[in-house]
Order: sequence, then C-alpha cells, then structure tokens
Amino acid sequence: MQLLTLLALAALTTHASAVTWYYLDFTTPSGSYITSFSGTMVAPGLPQAATYYLWPGLQPSGNAGVLQQVLDGRSGEWWIGSGWCCSDPDLPWGSGFNVADGAAVAFSNVVDDIDEGTWSTSLSSGSNSATGSFALPTHPMDQAIMAIELYNVTWDFGALTFEDVVIVANTTSTSWCTGGGTNYNNAAVISMSSPTATTSGPATTCSIASIVFEYPA
Ligand SMILES: *[C@@H]1O[C@H](CO)[C@@H](O)[C@H](O)[C@H]1NC(C)=O
Ligand SMILES: *[C@@H]1O[C@H](CO)[C@@H](O)[C@H](O)[C@H]1NC(C)=O
Repeated sequence: MQLLTLLALAALTTHASAVTWYYLDFTTPSGSYITSFSGTMVAPGLPQAATYYLWPGLQPSGNAGVLQQVLDGRSGEWWIGSGWCCSDPDLPWGSGFNVADGAAVAFSNVVDDIDEGTWSTSLSSGSNSATGSFALPTHPMDQAIMAIELYNVTWDFGALTFEDVVIVANTTSTSWCTGGGTNYNNAAVISMSSPTATTSGPATTCSIASIVFEYPA
C-alpha cells in the first residue's frame, strides 16, 4: 500500500495531468494544532477497479505528509486502512479491511500529546475494525482534510458523504470551523450542514453533521 502510494506520488510529480483532486480543508490558526479528528465516511458504489483514493486525513504545517484513512478502489473492491504517507518518518501502512458499497466506516485519529505526537487511529464498519499507532513527533497537525484523489479515472461514483465530523484543536478561535473550510479550487460542489464550534478552556470542538461532495463543479 505504502509503496503504491509512493508510486502515485511520483506520478503526481512527473505526470501531473494524471491526478485529479477535490478536497475540503479546515486549517487551524497559526500556532494551534489538531488533537482529534473523527467522523464517518460512507463508501460510494465502486464503478470499476481503478485508483480512487477517498480519504479523511490530517496534514502538518509545511505539508510534510498526511495521516489518512484511505478508501482504495484499485482491486475492484473497496479497502480501507490508516497510514502516514509517505516518508520522514517512514512508517508501515496500518491494517485495514474491505468495505462494501454503501457501507459507513467510522474513523478516528487522536494524538496523545501535540508535542510528543503519537497518533492512535481507529476504523470500524459493521463487524470489521482496525487500529493503528503512528509516531509523528515532529509533525503537529494543523489541517483536517476530506479528499477525493483520482488517478487516470474520473469522479464517476456519485456523491461522497461524511457524517458526524468532529475536529478538536487547541485554539479559542472558532472562525476556522464556522467558516466551513476551503473547497480546493472550488473544484467540487459540496453541501454541508452548518459547522458548530464549542470552546472549552483552551480547546475548540468543531462539529459538522454532514458534508456531501455532490459532483464536480
Ligand atoms: C497548542 O499546543 C502547542 C504544543 O503544545 C503549543 O506550542 C501552542 O502554543 C498551543 N497553542 C495554543 C493557541 O494554545
Ligand atoms: C496514470 O497514467 C499514466 C500515463 O499512462 C501512467 O504513467 C501512470 O502510472 C498512471 N497512474 C496510475 C496511478 O495508475
């Protein structure tokens, strides 16, 4: 998985035209970081075996990599697993499981300490589950992303739905949440319920009941 993701990144560098991106990005204010990111992603129907990567993920400032739960369509049946893509540090991809068309997958990423930076990940769907641990001490995360990443295939699977999305960050600012994030290049038509932000002490919890990537803009 990780090797193939690296190959995909190489493709991004050398054959930029082969990759198509749609994503929504919530970036916390400078000097604040995400401690938890969870929600549910609903697997669309998989039209064919192809390089569809649908994922929630966390990115550090400087974009050194991404800690992500990737729903992967290459085999012709969805598979999901957690991993850190792609290097610095080089970590093995986590375990995962196959996902049926239409199934909801709960995901979570929680860090034990922003500075120490070991992330615990979990995935569950019906009777399937997988957990992981990713030591990323030099990468405090400031971006929570929901993405459609496509190689040599178009967005032909219909809507992609995220539900009960919750992002917690160590900031008393709320606008990074209530503003609804940034729709990259406005490439996707996205329907979203109003984000709500609750601040308690030094932390703000951003909750979004539903985010639907409807179709390409
Ligand atoms: C968030 O936590 C980091 C790491 O401990 C700290 O350096 C930063 O000052 C905190 N930011 C805020 C806004 O509390
Ligand atoms: C996409 O197509 C290009 C050109 O045929 C190929 O070089 C590349 O490896 C393909 N990428 C993937 C991820 O299949």
